[in-house]
Parts: sequence; C-alpha cells; structure tokens
Amino acid sequence: MSVTVNGKQVEILISEAEITARVNKLAELISIEYKNTKQLVVIGLLRGSFIFISDLVRRLNLPVEVDFITVSSYGNNTESTRQVRIIKDLQTPINARDVLVVEDIIDTGHTLSQVLKILNTRQPQSLSVCALLNKPSRREIDVNVKWTGFDIPDEFVIGYGIDFAQHGRNLPHIGFIKNSK
Ligand code: IMP
Ligand code: MG
Repeated sequence: MSVTVNGKQVEILISEAEITARVNKLAELISIEYKNTKQLVVIGLLRGSFIFISDLVRRLNLPVEVDFITVSSYGNNTESTRQVRIIKDLQTPINARDVLVVEDIIDTGHTLSQVLKILNTRQPQSLSVCALLNKPSRREIDVNVKWTGFDIPDEFVIGYGIDFAQHGRNLPHIGFIKNSK
C-alpha cells in the first residue's frame, strides 16, 4: 500500500500496529533495566524522535524526567554533512544521573557518536541509547545502541515523527520514498 506525501509516493514499511507492539516491548525492557533508578533522564533528539519518545515514556514504568536536545546534521536533503552542531542544548544537568538518549534513526552513526561524546563529558552515571530505526548497511562509525526498534534497509523513510524536508512527520506509520535511491 502507498500514500502520497508532497507529491512523492510513499510505500508502507512498518505499520502503526507493528510500531505499537515494538514500542511496548522496548518500554518493558527499558523499565526492567532501570528498575532501581532514582529517576531516568530521557533525552529526545529533536525533531525526529518526538513521537517515538512520547509513546515510549508513557509506557515506562519508572520515574522519568524528559528533556530534548537539537543537533543539526542534515539539511533538506538525503545526504549527511557528517557535521554535528548543538542548536538547542539540554536544560537538565545530567551529571551522576541515568541517561537514556532516544533517537529516530541511526544511519551512518556520526550524529549519535558525536552527541554521546558531548553528553559523556558531563559525566552521567550511565548513558544508553534507544533508537527506533537502524540502517546497519549504512554504518560508518561504531555506536553502542542498547535498544533498537527495527533494522531497516537502505531506503529514505518518513512518518511517525520522521521527515523528508519537513514533510511526512504526521504519518502514523513508517514508509519509504519510492525511487529515492
Ligand atoms: P547519521 O549521523 O548518519 O547516523 O544520521 C542520523 C540522522 O539522519 C537521523 O537522526 C535522521 O534525522 C537522519 N536520517 C537518516 N536517515 C534518514 C531517513 O531515512 N529519513 C529521515 N531522516 C533520516
Ligand atoms: Mg535525527
């Protein structure tokens, strides 16, 4: 099945029901892992993770604090510049705290690797990553991602918070843009 977004044909890759089931499972695993935490700081990378993090935190059976960081690594195109800039920093000090970074997609790995380096300098008690999507065939740099929702092929995806040039974030499922490669 396909839908049209901004004149582009988008094929469904992961349905709403599949996403829900997987997010439930991830929340269960994360709740077990942090069962003894005082309070988990859940950090979403804006903007792509905003729907994922909101679904995920509602299912966590833990005391949580939520914060966001905005970094830039992509313009309005499908190629990475491999440069990360902090555009909006955290408001929360993370020193000596349990921190979970929530990301939409790990592609080359450069964004996350640089973000983790920055956050590590602030000396959290623990620092782990939960990513909804992973494109293993695109990896250029090794990043330790503890929880992944789905491994996907090398296609440009949108939906469930993820965009192409600011289109498609509001799709309830995840789809790939046909003939984008
Ligand atoms: P990386 O630095 O190459 O791992 O890039 C990761 C970032 O690129 C993700 O946070 C996304 O914002 C963006 N990105 C990578 N692949 C896609 C895609 O298929 N659709 C939309 N954004 C993507
Ligand atoms: Mg992103």
